[in-house]
Amino acid sequence: MSGSYPSVQMTVIGAGYLGLTHAVCMAEFGHDVLALDVDADKVARAAGGEAPFFEPGLEPMLRKNVDAGRLKFTTSYAEAAGFGDVHFLCVGTPQALDGSADLSQIYAAVDALAPHLKGPCLVVGKSTVPVGTASALATRVRQSAPAGAGVEFAWNPEFLREGLAVQDSLLPSRIVFGVTSRRSVELLQDVYAQPLAEGSPGLVMDLETAELVKVSANAFLATRLSFINAMAEVCEAVGANVTDLVEALSCDKRIGAHFLTPGLGFGGGCLPKDVRSFRTATEDLGITSLASMLREVDAINMRCRARAVDLARESVGGSLAGCRVGVLGVAFKPGSDDVRDSASLDVCGRIADEGAAVSVHDPVAMENAASLRPDLRYTESALAAATGADVVLHLTEWEEYRSIDPEILGTVVARRNIVDCRCVLDEERWRSAGWSVRVLGKR
Ligand SMILES: NC(=O)c1ccc[n+]([C@@H]2O[C@H](COP(=O)([O-])OP(=O)(O)OC[C@H]3O[C@@H](n4cnc5c(N)ncnc54)[C@H](O)[C@@H]3O)[C@@H](O)[C@H]2O)c1
Repeated sequence: MSGSYPSVQMTVIGAGYLGLTHAVCMAEFGHDVLALDVDADKVARAAGGEAPFFEPGLEPMLRKNVDAGRLKFTTSYAEAAGFGDVHFLCVGTPQALDGSADLSQIYAAVDALAPHLKGPCLVVGKSTVPVGTASALATRVRQSAPAGAGVEFAWNPEFLREGLAVQDSLLPSRIVFGVTSRRSVELLQDVYAQPLAEGSPGLVMDLETAELVKVSANAFLATRLSFINAMAEVCEAVGANVTDLVEALSCDKRIGAHFLTPGLGFGGGCLPKDVRSFRTATEDLGITSLASMLREVDAINMRCRARAVDLARESVGGSLAGCRVGVLGVAFKPGSDDVRDSASLDVCGRIADEGAAVSVHDPVAMENAASLRPDLRYTESALAAATGADVVLHLTEWEEYRSIDPEILGTVVARRNIVDCRCVLDEERWRSAGWSVRVLGKR
């Protein structure tokens, strides 16, 4: 017991952005956690107290719980199966070539775990999967586990936001229990006793609904973003101002302000692939209206990237070939080093492909970006990225870029052109310093 809460022996399978954060926060709640990953290097680094990716607040909490002996790491499924009463599945579900979810990691994980499950236990999926996956996995595990029907199955989707992952895991907006038995609910209530006591709502439902909660939440958020980005295009066409539009829309409580931010659209390891996977699932189900809507949400989102390149091209007089472009930010969002399907990095690539020399700065994501786009030049500061530039692109809205002094940046560039693709810079300040400012969503 930690404080007045129960302590559960658990494993977390897959120690990436989701799994490592989950493992650390579970240990922080006082549980005994063994995290497993097939990546031996990742396991060794995490066991030594080093987070293999950037997430605010994660590394000190990782180190604290490793030092306290509550959090251990392994690559052995036999060890994991023997250790846990509850096994969380947190492996990746990336996008397959046809847009559907590639479930090979999750099938590999349960196939490796099941033969070692000798006694009753609860296997809990947290990865984002197409509806129907949990039930198929449950049948598969029970067929090969010595414990057979003694293996319970549950789905407990994750809603953490990268950049805020620790706080979201310690006090989730909601905790969804997709279950088939009362016993599973009781075990999961022990696992989440602390956040439940502190106010996170716990919602009990069937497996299929739990799977759908996650994909529909992401589809809805993506739809909001694409809606406002389509409105930004309208604003550009008629000479209106999307920032003022959003401010007025947000005053309506039925609409609200969250996820109504115009700009480069969504990217990262979740929203784009989840929208596409849900689209293919709805096509398979014959629900063509939703499939068409999601296809358009994706298309609008991808068009934001093309529009950003158009603005960059226009601002240097019609051709990027031979130009120098300074880039502020390549992470898919501030607060993260994740560049999976980053709209910002995609724009850099498109601009480089048009023949520009691209110099990039990002506070934490340059190493990951360089592994995907080694052809770009990576610099140690915003000033270095902008040096000699014909145009500066503001692509990821890190706080530090908002406070850049346009007078100082103006002394190093070749031409004072800036394109604000996140609609957050103080336009008047930049204009008064002699910059030509272009903003997505404003003529
Ligand atoms: N990243 C997020 O913000 C977030 C939020 C909510 C849900 N999710 C979902 O969580 C899942 C994981 O996402 P992620 O961002 O952590 O991915 P990730 O790629 O960062 O992590 C996946 C981890 O699983 C490991 N792995 C792969 N195959 C394995 C196997 N057979 N056995 C053990 N480990 C294995 C990989 O080495 C990697 O460390 C996805 O379904 C994603 O959609 C992610």
